[in-house]
Amino acid sequence: MPAVPVSLQHAAQDPTVLLATGLPELDRVLGGGLVRGSVTLLGGEPGIGKSTIVLQLCASIARAGGSCLIVTGEESVDQVGRRAARLGANVEGVMVHADSDVESILAVLDHVRPKLVVIDSIQTMSTASAGSAAGTVGQVRECAQAFTAYAKQHGVASILVGHVTKEGSLAGPRVLEHLVDTVLEFEGDRHHSLRFLRAVKHRFGSTDEVGVLEMTETGLSSVADASQLFLDDRRSGVSGSVIAPLIQGRRPMLVEIQSLVNAVQQPAQLRRLAQGLDSNRLAVVLAVLTKYCGLPFNSHDVYASVVGGIRVDEPGADLALALALFSSRKGTVISSDLVAVGEVGLGGEVRKVSHLSRRLNEVARLGFRRALVPKGSPSGPEGLKLIPVSTISEAVSYS
Ligand code: TYD
Ligand code: MG
Repeated sequence: MPAVPVSLQHAAQDPTVLLATGLPELDRVLGGGLVRGSVTLLGGEPGIGKSTIVLQLCASIARAGGSCLIVTGEESVDQVGRRAARLGANVEGVMVHADSDVESILAVLDHVRPKLVVIDSIQTMSTASAGSAAGTVGQVRECAQAFTAYAKQHGVASILVGHVTKEGSLAGPRVLEHLVDTVLEFEGDRHHSLRFLRAVKHRFGSTDEVGVLEMTETGLSSVADASQLFLDDRRSGVSGSVIAPLIQGRRPMLVEIQSLVNAVQQPAQLRRLAQGLDSNRLAVVLAVLTKYCGLPFNSHDVYASVVGGIRVDEPGADLALALALFSSRKGTVISSDLVAVGEVGLGGEVRKVSHLSRRLNEVARLGFRRALVPKGSPSGPEGLKLIPVSTISEAVSYS
């Protein structure tokens, strides 16, 4: 008998959320929690907090009655146990197993049958079925395939931890993205305590949420008010600092954009450094300032960064960046009650941005009084004075 296709009307089964992770920011990114039988790749640089977050989520799932197995190929059972004790994650229902042999781990899984299994990390695993040595791309792929097949067959939610190097080469895991259901990127600056969690692929929901967490003495905690946190360390009265109301994921967030422009003796070796910002956007904004504001940077080192280790990739940050550069170059100070948002075009025009009213509500909530916005923007919340600008040269007169 030929197979019978299904009407699309009945085809969409709601993937039941199996496990809320107990970390609100992680659940936000996952769209509620981990799905039964799903495989999640958690990538991030060494030291960013991957082992910490998986331990915390296992503890909270176990407290809610689900059993979890952490398989560690990097640390001893003792080491994981000590960290768990420090985090208060030494909960009955979280088991740990030190092993790196896939076949023997699958046998353990058959015996234990947890709701969630964590493999920390996928790069340390090896399988006899692949010819190559542990850590090679071929091995990593074979191991991930074996765990994925097991997860699907037995309905065990699985998290594969993968190390990413600074250059973004996952030394393997990037080749896994198509195998798994969800890819989470855990990032931040190791020297700052803030961490950002993004889904770059998510078979069960949207990929435009960002989770914000803070690494503390007792593990990672969710940050509900990121804007406030970013503004806490702000020094007012210095040149080169501008606040921009940006959209991260679906949330408005106020971030501080800083720049430092220094005249140098040897213009042959000019430095251009963008941290947390796209270096191409920096180049464009510098070119526009030169052309339309008559402000050359051809004998200046230029540094621009986003405070707090956050990465900004929306053009709405252009205007704030332009003002920060202008202010540092000229040595002027931007009033501390002012924010700026808008995209800067190659013709020196200031272009509209999406979600303006949500951005401006956040601006007002945090007590700012004035906002430079693209001309033609609708009015803002009460108490916030909007200053519409249509060109970059108009805008810099406020710096
Ligand atoms: P870890 O989870 O081991 O990182 P990864 O698995 O991604 O390599 O976390 C590493 C860092 O986090 C380590 O330098 C110490 C710090 N840390 C804290 O600040 N607080 C804590 O409670 C824990 C467990 C770790
Ligand atoms: Mg680790």
